[in-house]
Amino acid sequence: MSIILYINLRLFFTLTFILSKLLLNEGAGIQAQAGYLPLDEVYALREIGGQLGKKDWDFSLNPCDGNPNWATPQNAVMPRYNNTVECNCSYPGNVCHVVSLFLMGQDLDGVLPPSLAKLPYIKNIDLTRNYLNGTIPPEWTSTKLEYLSVPVNRLSGRIPLLLGNITSLVYLNLESNMFFGTVPAELGKLKYLTNLVLRANNLYGVLPISELNRLTNLTELCLSSNNFSGNIPSLKSLTKLQKLRSASRISIRGSLHQAKDI
Ligand SMILES: *[C@@H]1O[C@H](CO)[C@@H](O)[C@H](O)[C@H]1NC(C)=O
Ligand SMILES: *[C@@H]1O[C@H](CO)[C@@H](O)[C@H](O)[C@H]1NC(C)=O
Ligand SMILES: *[C@@H]1O[C@H](CO)[C@@H](O)[C@H](O)[C@H]1NC(C)=O
Ligand SMILES: *[C@@H]1O[C@H](CO)[C@@H](O)[C@H](O)[C@H]1NC(C)=O
Ligand SMILES: *[C@@H]1O[C@H](CO)[C@@H](O)[C@H](O)[C@H]1NC(C)=O
Ligand SMILES: *[C@@H]1O[C@H](CO)[C@@H](O)[C@H](O)[C@H]1NC(C)=O
Repeated sequence: MSIILYINLRLFFTLTFILSKLLLNEGAGIQAQAGYLPLDEVYALREIGGQLGKKDWDFSLNPCDGNPNWATPQNAVMPRYNNTVECNCSYPGNVCHVVSLFLMGQDLDGVLPPSLAKLPYIKNIDLTRNYLNGTIPPEWTSTKLEYLSVPVNRLSGRIPLLLGNITSLVYLNLESNMFFGTVPAELGKLKYLTNLVLRANNLYGVLPISELNRLTNLTELCLSSNNFSGNIPSLKSLTKLQKLRSASRISIRGSLHQAKDI
């Protein structure tokens, strides 16, 4: 009896020790002036790091206090390298939430992280210039992402129809990947889009012009270096378009005098 009690007490103290170590060292208990990140977001970042192949995040530091491991200052020698986790720490009770991940030019060789969806406040992700493969994870449809930028990677397959479900998107850039097939009509559901950049993939077929014409907030549309076919479509509803890079097969009519085909 007393032995069992002893063992249980030992277990209790061991667990308490582990737990307090976790809480104190690994996020939730970090009470720097910047505020702290809830433990579930710390765990989400661990999973995200694993999925991306990002090995140098130091979880003994507070991801939200602006230290250079989590938010590396700009380096003139490596202007294309960006290593920034952005938190918003103006929530009540000294609580922070991750709002942006900018991990550019880091040679990450994993996949787009499904666990991004476990960061409930995430708005911006930029993974430009890595070696990420696979495609957009279905989990991302539960986010409120506004800025999704993943150019110059090894993403492949068809552009997933479920991208059209991330209706909060304002900016979408899939340039210089290996996406193939047609542009899904579902992208026409992204009514807040101002920038749609699909340049330099292996896309072909007829563009879903009536759906694209619904994207009346577009200011930039880049479709060049693909292999689209079909009739010369007209993007006459896109009155805000200022920058158009097409394969020269797209004509714009109406009040689009300022649009440049560059
Ligand atoms: C990283 O990229 C973001 C988004 O483009 C930008 O706001 C930020 O200034 C960049 N940071 C560094 C250190 O380059
Ligand atoms: C941070 O979050 C607060 C509370 O939701 C919001 O009012 C504020 O605009 C956010 N700040 C930034 C820089 O996004
Ligand atoms: C992504 O790369 C990994 C490792 O190189 C490979 O095992 C996997 O099959 C690739 N997946 C796709 C969809 O290309
Ligand atoms: C996307 O939305 C459609 C309906 O608009 C729904 O049928 C589908 O299940 C959604 N997919 C995901 C992955 O959320
Ligand atoms: C364009 O953006 C505005 C403000 O962001 C939004 O209210 C509007 O619904 C968008 N356009 C369309 C066609 O929905
Ligand atoms: C582009 O598409 C046409 C048919 O529409 C095809 O004949 C041609 O081989 C394609 N070019 C490339 C580079 O895939």
